[in-house]
Amino acid sequence: MTNFQYKKSTKYTDYDTIYEQCSGPGGLQLAEFMAEKMGLLPGKKLLDVGSNRGWQTCFMAKEYGVFAVGIDPWDDRMEGNPMVEHMRKNSRLWGVEDLILGIKVGVPDTNFASESFDYVYSTTALEMVRVSQGIEGYLEALKEIYRVLKPGGIFGLGEPMHLDVPVPSDLEPYISQDEYSWKECFRSLSETTKLIREAGFEIIEDGYAPDAWQWWTDFAKHDPFCKQDSDDDPKTLEVDGGRWTSFGYVIARKGE
Ligand SMILES: C[S@@+](CC[C@H](N)C(=O)[O-])C[C@H]1O[C@@H](n2cnc3c(N)ncnc32)[C@H](O)[C@@H]1O
Repeated sequence: MTNFQYKKSTKYTDYDTIYEQCSGPGGLQLAEFMAEKMGLLPGKKLLDVGSNRGWQTCFMAKEYGVFAVGIDPWDDRMEGNPMVEHMRKNSRLWGVEDLILGIKVGVPDTNFASESFDYVYSTTALEMVRVSQGIEGYLEALKEIYRVLKPGGIFGLGEPMHLDVPVPSDLEPYISQDEYSWKECFRSLSETTKLIREAGFEIIEDGYAPDAWQWWTDFAKHDPFCKQDSDDDPKTLEVDGGRWTSFGYVIARKGE
């Protein structure tokens, strides 16, 4: 059980839509959890790295009044439309089109001027960079985030992570399979914070999210790909039972 009190995400109760529009565990609860930890203030500029369809980006613009730039280099897996196009449409649905800008780029090649943003938010995205670009690419991405943040700016990272335990042997085959296998993607919290420090940040708070397992359970139940194939991620989570898979967060600051 959590001691975090959700206030803003509780009014969004259609979990099928939330998990259709977000991609990964946590949905809008994750966005609220991170936004509160990051201390988002209205009128400030936020960069969402790996914004996908922008559902969380729109939520933060609507509920916290931030100006948000979402960057995402990929197209969707269904129709091949750019993710940032979905974000544009979603910003109209949420009534926040004046607060949202989507750009089809990724870290580390953002081309933003240095010291442009008050906050950088990134959830369930950088672990993919770790797989495609290796640990050096992950560090490059963190350094780019550091570069585009203003002095004193806050970086909030939320990522699927594993607990600091060996992989249970019965789980091993389930997490070793696909292109972006969980074994390749997920790291422990301490490995992640070490790299964030290496990129220049000061860590303000880090931990495994108190509701990590609930978020994964919701994901298994509502994510459209999970609904299509219960032998894939839902089976992995069933075998895991909370022994290895978790979700970590890091709140970090760029020094003044
Ligand atoms: C699993 S989705 C996460 C979406 C959303 N943040 C969430 O938590 O629901 C990850 C997104 O990261 C994006 N991504 C992949 N490589 C990236 C990069 N180098 N820079 C920024 N985003 C990237 C993908 O396009 C994908 O839409």
